Amino acid sequence: MAALSLHGTSWFRLSNSMKGKRVLSGIQPSGGLHLGNYFGMMKPMIEFQVENELFCFLVNYHALTSVTDTEKLCRDTLEAAADFLALGLDPEKAVFWVQSDVPEVTELTWLLSNVTGVGLLERSHSYKDKIAKGIAPNHGLLSYPILMTADILLFGGEVVPVGKDQKQHLEISRDIASRFNSTYGETFIIPEPLIADDTGLIPGIDGQKMSKSYNNTLEIFCDHDELQKKVMNIVTDTTPVDEPKDPDSSTLYNIHSFFLDEAGKKQLRSRYETPGLRYGDVKRELADIIWDYFKPFREKRMELAENKDIVIEALNSGAEKARTIAAGYLEKARRNTGLIYK
Ligand code: TRP
Repeated sequence: MAALSLHGTSWFRLSNSMKGKRVLSGIQPSGGLHLGNYFGMMKPMIEFQVENELFCFLVNYHALTSVTDTEKLCRDTLEAAADFLALGLDPEKAVFWVQSDVPEVTELTWLLSNVTGVGLLERSHSYKDKIAKGIAPNHGLLSYPILMTADILLFGGEVVPVGKDQKQHLEISRDIASRFNSTYGETFIIPEPLIADDTGLIPGIDGQKMSKSYNNTLEIFCDHDELQKKVMNIVTDTTPVDEPKDPDSSTLYNIHSFFLDEAGKKQLRSRYETPGLRYGDVKRELADIIWDYFKPFREKRMELAENKDIVIEALNSGAEKARTIAAGYLEKARRNTGLIYK
């Protein structure tokens, strides 16, 4: 199998001062993991466990702002946890847990609420976008950034890698943390955002950004037929077989190139430029390449699906570790606010 080219992953560029720091991020638990999630977020996140202290958690409290289906939330949480573990997150190296297993975060949310102006929350783009879409906002939606801030401060997160869409939330978090510190004295670390550079990220099968909402995803853990069917649906132009094709404007070539090293890309490029190439043949090859690339992960994923206890055990021990850190920060916050009165 060809080596994966580097441009296949979004990048978090750690500045020198960020090296060795505590990296922390929360991920929405949603089912149906696709290549965009993997290359855009999960792979670069998991790589932090090698040289940084990684704190990574599944934000099921946040999910309550949009999911009201009880079974679905349970299922998605457990599945997302299994996905992470199957893709290489090592619960010995990283601290990995489910947000609601450390409910102290909701207490901190309350403490932070009292130093957070409503105006600050009302200016949040994601809040305004939801209102613009006609959603009648509830209080959970408005205070979403406060819970997110508590997530970071409770565990002493120093560097927070997120997608571009979360940039403003992080600014709000820094604001709230500073406000708390200036009101009650130095209590929390002010987190540094680390925004993913996702230029050149893998496109969806229609050529747009890969996203479930566009219905253009390639799933990682589906069966071979399903994968092949989706790959066969990747958009291609109508250049006749006996004419040369342009790799640079081809979504199919673009997706394919994520799984090829330089030599492989060069070879594929010259096949495009030589008359006779059939897109159907290339698609079948690509389906096999993707299938093989994720094979070891898929096997691990299947093993975890059959042994949920392994997943639950990993999450329990992660929550325990997270909780120990949380206790220190929460105690300090309670003391500084005057809640510890005895
Ligand atoms: N809001 C983030 C998202 O939707 C998820 C999140 C929740 C998060 N808490 C966090 C990210 C803390 C970083 C740090 O992607």
